[in-house]
Amino acid sequence: MSIISISEAILRLKADKVVGLPTETVYGLAGSISSQVALETIFKTKDRPFFDPLIIHVSCLEQLKSLTSIYPEDIIKKLFKAFWPGPLTIVLPKSDQVSDLITSGLNTVAIRIPDHPLFLEAASEVGPLAAPSANKFGKTSPTKASHVVDEFGGNIGVVDGGDCEVGIESTILSIEKGNFKILRPGLITKSEIAKVLGVGKDKIISSHSGDNAPGQLKYHYQPEVPLALTDNAKDIATDLLKLTDKKITNYKVLELSDNPLIFARTMYAQFREESKNPYDLLVIEKNKSTEGVWASIENRLQRAATWDLRH
Ligand code: TXA
Ligand code: MG
Repeated sequence: MSIISISEAILRLKADKVVGLPTETVYGLAGSISSQVALETIFKTKDRPFFDPLIIHVSCLEQLKSLTSIYPEDIIKKLFKAFWPGPLTIVLPKSDQVSDLITSGLNTVAIRIPDHPLFLEAASEVGPLAAPSANKFGKTSPTKASHVVDEFGGNIGVVDGGDCEVGIESTILSIEKGNFKILRPGLITKSEIAKVLGVGKDKIISSHSGDNAPGQLKYHYQPEVPLALTDNAKDIATDLLKLTDKKITNYKVLELSDNPLIFARTMYAQFREESKNPYDLLVIEKNKSTEGVWASIENRLQRAATWDLRH
Protein backbone atom coordinates (compact mmCIF):
# COMPACT_ATOMS: atom_id res chain seq x y z
CA MET A 1 0.00 0.00 0.00
CA SER A 2 1.51 3.32 -1.00
CA ILE A 3 -0.69 5.73 0.94
CA ILE A 4 1.17 6.85 4.07
CA SER A 5 0.41 9.19 6.99
CA ILE A 6 1.98 12.63 7.27
CA SER A 7 4.05 11.49 10.26
CA GLU A 8 5.43 8.56 8.25
CA ALA A 9 6.19 10.98 5.39
CA ILE A 10 8.10 13.28 7.75
CA LEU A 11 10.15 10.32 9.07
CA ARG A 12 10.99 9.27 5.51
CA LEU A 13 11.95 12.81 4.47
CA LYS A 14 14.31 13.01 7.46
CA ALA A 15 15.83 9.68 6.34
CA ASP A 16 16.85 10.88 2.83
CA LYS A 17 13.74 9.42 1.14
CA VAL A 18 11.30 11.06 -1.26
CA VAL A 19 7.50 11.08 -0.79
CA GLY A 20 4.43 12.28 -2.66
CA LEU A 21 2.80 15.28 -0.98
CA PRO A 22 -0.33 17.25 -1.82
CA THR A 23 -0.19 20.95 -2.67
CA GLU A 24 -3.04 23.20 -3.79
CA THR A 25 -1.83 23.06 -7.41
CA VAL A 26 -0.74 19.46 -8.14
CA TYR A 27 0.90 16.68 -6.10
CA GLY A 28 4.66 17.06 -5.62
CA LEU A 29 7.45 14.50 -5.31
CA ALA A 30 9.23 15.95 -2.30
CA GLY A 31 12.72 15.55 -0.88
CA SER A 32 14.75 17.53 1.63
CA ILE A 33 17.02 20.13 -0.01
CA SER A 34 19.73 19.16 2.46
CA SER A 35 19.82 15.55 1.23
CA GLN A 36 21.87 14.97 -1.90
CA VAL A 37 20.55 11.39 -2.00
CA ALA A 38 16.92 12.54 -1.92
CA LEU A 39 17.53 15.13 -4.65
CA GLU A 40 19.12 12.52 -6.89
CA THR A 41 16.21 10.16 -6.20
CA ILE A 42 13.74 12.83 -7.36
CA PHE A 43 15.43 13.06 -10.78
CA LYS A 44 15.80 9.29 -11.06
CA THR A 45 12.19 8.54 -10.06
CA LYS A 46 10.81 11.02 -12.58
CA ASP A 47 13.32 10.18 -15.37
CA ARG A 48 13.89 13.90 -15.32
CA PRO A 49 16.93 15.36 -17.06
CA PHE A 50 19.34 17.18 -14.75
CA PHE A 51 19.04 20.35 -16.84
CA ASP A 52 15.48 20.93 -15.56
CA PRO A 53 15.70 22.69 -12.16
CA LEU A 54 13.45 22.08 -9.13
CA ILE A 55 11.20 24.42 -7.15
CA ILE A 56 11.96 24.76 -3.43
CA HIS A 57 8.92 24.84 -1.15
CA VAL A 58 9.23 26.60 2.19
CA SER A 59 6.77 26.80 5.09
CA CYS A 60 7.48 30.45 6.00
CA LEU A 61 9.53 33.50 5.02
CA GLU A 62 12.13 32.66 7.66
CA GLN A 63 13.03 29.51 5.67
CA LEU A 64 13.45 31.56 2.50
CA LYS A 65 16.13 33.89 3.85
CA SER A 66 19.11 31.56 3.51
CA LEU A 67 18.11 30.47 -0.01
CA THR A 68 18.41 33.77 -1.84
CA SER A 69 21.40 36.07 -2.09
CA ILE A 70 19.33 39.26 -2.04
CA TYR A 71 17.43 40.70 0.82
CA PRO A 72 13.99 40.92 -0.76
CA GLU A 73 13.02 44.51 -1.30
CA ASP A 74 9.65 46.01 -0.52
CA ILE A 75 8.36 45.35 -4.00
CA ILE A 76 9.01 41.62 -3.68
CA LYS A 77 7.57 41.55 -0.19
CA LYS A 78 4.32 42.86 -1.65
CA LEU A 79 4.12 39.69 -3.73
CA PHE A 80 4.75 37.44 -0.72
CA LYS A 81 2.05 39.24 1.20
CA ALA A 82 -0.53 39.10 -1.57
CA PHE A 83 0.02 35.58 -2.89
CA TRP A 84 1.69 33.34 -0.29
CA PRO A 85 0.83 30.73 0.72
CA GLY A 86 -0.42 30.15 -2.81
CA PRO A 87 0.22 29.14 -6.42
CA LEU A 88 2.96 31.67 -7.25
CA THR A 89 6.60 30.59 -7.64
CA ILE A 90 9.18 33.36 -7.55
CA VAL A 91 12.59 32.99 -9.18
CA LEU A 92 15.27 34.97 -7.32
CA PRO A 93 19.09 35.08 -7.33
CA LYS A 94 20.26 32.05 -5.34
CA SER A 95 22.56 31.92 -2.34
CA ASP A 96 25.49 29.49 -2.18
CA GLN A 97 23.50 27.35 0.26
CA VAL A 98 21.40 26.06 -2.64
CA SER A 99 22.94 23.10 -4.44
CA ASP A 100 23.54 23.18 -8.18
CA LEU A 101 21.57 19.97 -8.45
CA ILE A 102 18.41 21.91 -7.51
CA THR A 103 19.02 24.83 -9.86
CA SER A 104 20.71 22.89 -12.69
CA GLY A 105 23.67 25.19 -12.35
CA LEU A 106 21.62 28.39 -12.83
CA ASN A 107 22.38 31.30 -10.52
CA THR A 108 18.68 31.65 -9.66
CA VAL A 109 16.36 29.58 -7.50
CA ALA A 110 12.59 29.06 -7.77
CA ILE A 111 10.72 29.24 -4.44
CA ARG A 112 7.14 29.15 -3.20
CA ILE A 113 5.05 28.66 -0.07
CA PRO A 114 2.34 26.16 -1.08
CA ASP A 115 -1.16 26.47 0.33
CA HIS A 116 -1.76 23.02 1.75
CA PRO A 117 -1.66 22.26 5.49
CA LEU A 118 -0.03 18.83 5.06
CA PHE A 119 2.75 20.13 2.84
CA LEU A 120 3.33 23.05 5.21
CA GLU A 121 3.50 20.65 8.16
CA ALA A 122 6.17 18.57 6.40
CA ALA A 123 8.23 21.63 5.37
CA SER A 124 8.08 23.15 8.83
CA GLU A 125 9.23 19.86 10.44
CA VAL A 126 11.88 18.88 7.88
CA GLY A 127 12.99 22.23 6.41
CA PRO A 128 12.73 23.42 2.79
CA LEU A 129 11.63 20.69 0.36
CA ALA A 130 12.39 20.44 -3.34
CA ALA A 131 9.31 19.15 -5.17
CA PRO A 132 8.58 18.85 -8.86
CA SER A 133 5.18 17.59 -9.93
CA ALA A 134 4.91 13.88 -9.03
CA ASN A 135 4.78 12.45 -12.56
CA LYS A 136 7.20 10.96 -15.04
CA PHE A 137 8.99 13.68 -17.00
CA GLY A 138 6.82 15.24 -19.73
CA LYS A 139 3.60 13.62 -18.55
CA THR A 140 0.38 14.94 -16.98
CA SER A 141 0.73 16.28 -13.43
CA PRO A 142 -1.19 14.38 -10.71
CA THR A 143 -4.11 16.05 -8.94
CA LYS A 144 -5.14 13.12 -6.71
CA ALA A 145 -3.08 10.82 -4.44
CA SER A 146 -4.19 7.84 -6.54
CA HIS A 147 -2.59 9.43 -9.63
CA VAL A 148 0.79 9.42 -7.87
CA VAL A 149 0.31 5.78 -6.86
CA ASP A 150 -0.56 4.92 -10.50
CA GLU A 151 2.52 6.79 -11.70
CA PHE A 152 5.17 5.25 -9.46
CA GLY A 153 3.53 2.06 -8.18
CA GLY A 154 4.41 0.91 -4.68
CA ASN A 155 7.87 2.48 -4.73
CA ILE A 156 6.87 5.87 -3.42
CA GLY A 157 4.76 6.62 -0.31
CA VAL A 158 2.09 9.26 -0.89
CA VAL A 159 0.17 11.38 1.63
CA ASP A 160 -3.48 11.71 0.61
CA GLY A 161 -4.53 15.34 0.98
CA GLY A 162 -7.59 15.13 -1.25
CA ASP A 163 -8.09 16.54 -4.75
CA CYS A 164 -5.96 19.57 -5.63
CA GLU A 165 -7.99 22.79 -5.59
CA VAL A 166 -6.17 24.54 -8.43
CA GLY A 167 -5.32 21.61 -10.71
CA ILE A 168 -2.61 23.28 -12.82
CA GLU A 169 0.94 24.11 -11.80
CA SER A 170 1.89 27.41 -10.14
CA THR A 171 2.56 30.64 -12.02
CA ILE A 172 6.34 31.14 -12.24
CA LEU A 173 7.55 34.75 -12.04
CA SER A 174 11.21 35.62 -12.38
CA ILE A 175 12.56 38.82 -10.87
CA GLU A 176 16.01 39.82 -12.00
CA LYS A 177 17.49 43.28 -11.71
CA GLY A 178 14.04 44.80 -11.38
CA ASN A 179 12.67 42.99 -14.46
CA PHE A 180 9.57 40.86 -14.12
CA LYS A 181 8.91 37.93 -16.41
CA ILE A 182 6.28 35.21 -16.32
CA LEU A 183 8.04 31.95 -17.18
CA ARG A 184 4.94 29.78 -16.77
CA PRO A 185 1.37 31.12 -16.56
CA GLY A 186 -0.96 29.76 -13.88
CA LEU A 187 -3.96 30.61 -11.74
CA ILE A 188 -2.38 33.88 -10.61
CA THR A 189 -2.48 36.06 -13.70
CA LYS A 190 -0.27 38.81 -15.06
CA SER A 191 -2.96 41.44 -14.30
CA GLU A 192 -3.19 40.37 -10.67
CA ILE A 193 0.60 40.54 -10.29
CA ALA A 194 0.79 43.94 -12.01
CA LYS A 195 -1.92 45.28 -9.71
CA VAL A 196 -0.09 44.17 -6.56
CA LEU A 197 3.20 45.61 -7.84
CA GLY A 198 1.48 48.85 -8.84
CA VAL A 199 2.84 48.70 -12.40
CA GLY A 200 1.24 48.47 -15.83
CA LYS A 201 0.67 45.03 -17.34
CA ASP A 202 3.21 45.86 -20.06
CA LYS A 203 5.98 46.00 -17.44
CA ILE A 204 5.67 42.24 -16.96
CA ILE A 205 6.89 40.22 -19.89
CA SER A 206 5.67 36.74 -20.79
CA SER A 207 8.14 34.16 -21.94
CA HIS A 208 7.49 32.71 -25.37
CA SER A 209 8.05 29.18 -26.46
CA GLY A 210 11.59 28.97 -27.73
CA ASP A 211 12.75 31.06 -24.77
CA ASN A 212 14.99 29.17 -22.49
CA ALA A 213 12.21 28.85 -19.93
CA PRO A 214 12.17 25.41 -18.41
CA GLY A 215 8.75 23.79 -18.28
CA GLN A 216 7.99 25.45 -21.59
CA LEU A 217 9.15 22.51 -23.66
CA LYS A 218 6.87 22.05 -26.64
CA TYR A 219 5.58 18.70 -25.43
CA HIS A 220 4.74 18.46 -21.77
CA TYR A 221 1.77 17.37 -19.66
CA GLN A 222 0.87 14.73 -22.27
CA PRO A 223 -1.87 12.19 -21.53
CA GLU A 224 -1.34 8.49 -22.32
CA VAL A 225 -3.96 8.57 -25.08
CA PRO A 226 -3.10 11.34 -27.59
CA LEU A 227 -5.10 14.55 -27.36
CA ALA A 228 -6.49 16.67 -30.21
CA LEU A 229 -7.85 20.21 -29.92
CA THR A 230 -10.61 21.26 -32.29
CA ASP A 231 -13.32 23.86 -32.90
CA ASN A 232 -15.69 21.17 -33.99
CA ALA A 233 -15.50 17.67 -32.53
CA LYS A 234 -17.89 16.04 -34.98
CA ASP A 235 -15.43 16.44 -37.88
CA ILE A 236 -12.43 15.29 -35.91
CA ALA A 237 -11.93 11.93 -37.60
CA THR A 238 -11.95 13.38 -41.14
CA ASP A 239 -9.93 16.46 -40.17
CA LEU A 240 -7.25 14.34 -38.61
CA LEU A 241 -7.00 12.07 -41.64
CA LYS A 242 -5.88 15.11 -43.65
CA LEU A 243 -2.85 15.43 -41.38
CA THR A 244 -1.90 11.87 -40.60
CA ASP A 245 -2.86 8.38 -41.68
CA LYS A 246 -4.03 7.66 -38.14
CA LYS A 247 -7.55 6.17 -38.41
CA ILE A 248 -9.79 7.17 -35.55
CA THR A 249 -12.51 4.71 -34.69
CA ASN A 250 -13.12 5.37 -31.04
CA TYR A 251 -12.60 8.87 -29.67
CA LYS A 252 -13.80 10.61 -26.55
CA VAL A 253 -14.79 14.27 -26.36
CA LEU A 254 -13.94 15.47 -22.86
CA GLU A 255 -16.65 17.37 -21.05
CA LEU A 256 -15.04 20.31 -19.36
CA SER A 257 -16.59 23.27 -17.58
CA ASP A 258 -17.24 26.76 -18.95
CA ASN A 259 -15.81 28.05 -15.69
CA PRO A 260 -12.00 28.28 -16.06
CA LEU A 261 -11.37 27.46 -12.39
CA ILE A 262 -13.32 24.21 -12.67
CA PHE A 263 -11.82 23.45 -16.09
CA ALA A 264 -8.29 23.80 -14.62
CA ARG A 265 -9.20 21.75 -11.55
CA THR A 266 -10.58 18.79 -13.49
CA MET A 267 -8.58 18.76 -16.75
CA TYR A 268 -5.63 16.56 -15.76
CA ALA A 269 -7.85 14.12 -13.85
CA GLN A 270 -9.92 13.65 -17.01
CA PHE A 271 -6.79 13.05 -19.09
CA ARG A 272 -5.82 10.28 -16.69
CA GLU A 273 -9.26 8.73 -16.16
CA GLU A 274 -10.16 8.62 -19.84
CA SER A 275 -6.72 7.29 -20.81
CA LYS A 276 -7.62 4.10 -18.92
CA ASN A 277 -10.33 3.41 -21.50
CA PRO A 278 -9.56 1.91 -24.92
CA TYR A 279 -9.89 5.20 -26.86
CA ASP A 280 -7.52 6.02 -29.67
CA LEU A 281 -7.99 9.77 -29.24
CA LEU A 282 -9.13 12.27 -26.60
CA VAL A 283 -10.69 15.46 -27.97
CA ILE A 284 -11.21 18.87 -26.45
CA GLU A 285 -13.52 21.27 -28.26
CA LYS A 286 -12.47 24.73 -27.23
CA ASN A 287 -11.61 28.04 -28.83
CA LYS A 288 -8.18 29.50 -28.27
CA SER A 289 -8.15 32.07 -25.51
CA THR A 290 -5.72 34.67 -24.26
CA GLU A 291 -7.77 35.97 -21.36
CA GLY A 292 -6.83 35.49 -17.69
CA VAL A 293 -6.85 31.92 -16.40
CA TRP A 294 -8.01 30.69 -19.85
CA ALA A 295 -4.62 31.77 -21.20
CA SER A 296 -2.89 29.53 -18.65
CA ILE A 297 -5.16 26.64 -19.56
CA GLU A 298 -4.40 27.30 -23.23
CA ASN A 299 -0.68 27.11 -22.44
CA ARG A 300 -1.13 23.61 -20.96
CA LEU A 301 -3.50 22.43 -23.72
CA GLN A 302 -1.08 23.37 -26.48
CA ARG A 303 1.69 21.36 -24.84
CA ALA A 304 -0.51 18.42 -23.91
CA ALA A 305 -2.04 18.07 -27.38
CA THR A 306 -0.52 16.04 -30.17
CA TRP A 307 -2.74 17.81 -32.72
CA ASP A 308 -4.16 21.32 -32.67
CA LEU A 309 -6.77 21.50 -35.45
CA ARG A 310 -8.33 24.77 -34.38
CA HIS A 311 -8.49 27.72 -36.74
O1 TXA B 1 2.63 24.05 -8.78
C1 TXA B 1 3.81 23.74 -8.88
O2 TXA B 1 4.71 24.57 -9.16
C2 TXA B 1 4.18 22.27 -8.65
C3 TXA B 1 3.91 21.92 -7.18
C4 TXA B 1 4.36 20.55 -6.81
O3 TXA B 1 4.49 22.91 -6.36
N1 TXA B 1 5.53 22.02 -9.00
C5 TXA B 1 5.93 21.97 -10.29
O4 TXA B 1 7.27 21.60 -10.41
O5 TXA B 1 5.21 22.20 -11.23
P1 TXA B 1 7.89 21.14 -11.79
O6 TXA B 1 9.30 20.76 -11.46
O7 TXA B 1 7.05 20.11 -12.41
O8 TXA B 1 7.94 22.45 -12.61
C6 TXA B 1 8.74 23.50 -12.14
C7 TXA B 1 9.24 24.34 -13.27
C8 TXA B 1 10.14 23.54 -14.16
O9 TXA B 1 9.73 23.72 -15.48
C9 TXA B 1 11.49 24.15 -13.92
O10 TXA B 1 12.27 24.09 -15.05
C10 TXA B 1 11.15 25.57 -13.51
O11 TXA B 1 10.03 25.40 -12.71
N2 TXA B 1 12.23 26.16 -12.70
C11 TXA B 1 12.75 25.71 -11.55
N3 TXA B 1 13.78 26.48 -11.15
C12 TXA B 1 13.91 27.46 -12.06
C13 TXA B 1 14.80 28.56 -12.21
N4 TXA B 1 15.76 28.83 -11.35
N5 TXA B 1 14.64 29.37 -13.29
C14 TXA B 1 13.64 29.12 -14.18
N6 TXA B 1 12.78 28.10 -14.10
C15 TXA B 1 12.91 27.27 -13.05
MG1 MG C 1 6.09 19.10 -13.85
